Amino acid sequence: MSQDQLKQAVALAALEYIRPLLENDSVIGIGTGSTANLFIDALASIKGLVNATVASSEASASRLKNHGIPVYDLNTVNQVDFYIDGADESNAALQLIKGGGAALTREKIVAAVAARFICIADESKLVHTLGQFPLPVEVIPMARSHVARELVKLGGDPIYREGVVTDNGNVILDIYNFPIPQPLAMEQKINNITGVVTNGLFALRPADVLLLGTASGVRTLTAE
Ligand code: 5RP
Repeated sequence: MSQDQLKQAVALAALEYIRPLLENDSVIGIGTGSTANLFIDALASIKGLVNATVASSEASASRLKNHGIPVYDLNTVNQVDFYIDGADESNAALQLIKGGGAALTREKIVAAVAARFICIADESKLVHTLGQFPLPVEVIPMARSHVARELVKLGGDPIYREGVVTDNGNVILDIYNFPIPQPLAMEQKINNITGVVTNGLFALRPADVLLLGTASGVRTLTAE
C-alpha cells in the first residue's frame, strides 16, 4: 500500500472511531495536514451528525466550511470532545513531533482543550526516539536570531523556514540533527526561551490513541 492509501485508511478508521461516540452537542477538534484533510473529507460523509468543529488552522477551517461543516471559534465552545490530527513522528509513549505544516501552536491549543486526542498516521511516522524529523519551533519574528543561537546551545542546527508565516503571523525555525530522548524536559526547555511561541513537541499533552496505518491494517495504539 502507498503512503497515501495508509493515510486514507487511518482517516476512515478515525471516522469509525468517533462515529458511535458522537452526541448532539459534541465538538470535534480538527488538525492540519494531508492526513487531517482526508479525515475532513471523510467527515463530510456524516456531516448531518456533526454539531460543531474547531479548526487548528485557517486551511482546515476553510476545507471544513467548503464541505458545509460548521466551524466555531474555540473561545465560543465549552468543550472539545475529540481532537483528530496527524503527526510528523510518534514514539511508543505517543509523544509526538508536529508542525510540519506550521500549524503547531493552534494544534497544541486545541489538543490541550480536547478530552481525547486521536492521532492518525501512517507507519513511517512511528519511531523509537523522536528527532529524525526536524523539530519545528514557532518564533516571534524579531526574536529569530536570538532563539536560533539558544537552540544551537541546546545542540541543534536550527534552520529558518524561508517564506513561511504562520496563521499567527510568526516564523518557523526547524531544528535538524537533534535527537530527543527526553521529550518532556526538552519541550519545556525550548518553550522557556524568550521569543518562542511554542515548539512542535507534544509530550506534555501526548496523543491518547494512535491509529497507525500499516500494510496489514490499521493498528490502535495507546501509550506504553
Ligand atoms: C501540521 C502537522 C501535521 O499533522 C503533520 O505535519 C503531519 O502532516 P501529514 O498528515 O501531511 O503527514 O503537524 O502542522
